Amino acid sequence: MARRKKVYEGKAKILYEGPEPGTYVQYFKDDATAFNAEKRDVIEGKGVLNNRLSEFFMTGLGAIGVPTHFLKRLNMREQLVRQVEIIPLEVIVRNLAAGTLATRLGLEEGSTLPRPIVEFCLKDDKLGDPLVSEEHIFAFGWASQQDLDDMVALALRVNDFMSGLMYGVGIKLVDFKIEIGRVWDGDYQRLIVADEISPDSCRLWDIETGQKLDKDVFRRDLGDLADAYTEVARRLGVLPANATPMTRPTLIN
Ligand code: CDP
Repeated sequence: MARRKKVYEGKAKILYEGPEPGTYVQYFKDDATAFNAEKRDVIEGKGVLNNRLSEFFMTGLGAIGVPTHFLKRLNMREQLVRQVEIIPLEVIVRNLAAGTLATRLGLEEGSTLPRPIVEFCLKDDKLGDPLVSEEHIFAFGWASQQDLDDMVALALRVNDFMSGLMYGVGIKLVDFKIEIGRVWDGDYQRLIVADEISPDSCRLWDIETGQKLDKDVFRRDLGDLADAYTEVARRLGVLPANATPMTRPTLIN
């Protein structure tokens, strides 16, 4: 089979040209990186799990009317997605203080925030994805006021959906990051959720024990990352209830 043309390779995924105009094939790698790729490893099975989990979340979002780029899963590691023009901002939603917010403002990890907080970071690895304000976003033309209003609305809907879904399986959604893309339907443009939604881009804590079930397991050397993601997938019913990490690769397709 002729090899597809690579459009872009990131830290955890590769984008290939899709079979039809306006589509891409998104391939999930096993590579894990943290601290702007200063720490890296290959976690066998991570790509397979994230492909499945992102499919699950994006399909659910679509079902409640939140538009996403997801079209269909193609195989264990690939999904067909809509081509979008990515807005160069990472949109972070926080329910509890953790990570850089806790550090920056001297908040205790896990302390409750007065309300969900939406933050924007410039997508620029060389600069370490710096936090930016609305002033920066408008002044440098990264997005318009209308875009920003739509991005906040989308991000908060994703937050409500994901928080509820996770609460139902005994997991707290502490924070997460999404990326948003622009698509055109004729002259009419709208914003949709793109990239991935997976434990790579969320903080997920077990409600009972506080156990971390997300990429912090890798960042902070807290155990086996694939085991943590398998646990999330198992609770959500994305893996059979009796799936164990040992049998992970054979059970997920
Ligand atoms: O994760 P880190 O402490 O570096 O940064 P954060 O600002 O506290 O991250 C908030 C949330 O966004 C966490 O769930 C991160 O996993 C996620 N995030 C991400 O997926 N990709 C980034 N480049 C930055 C944050």
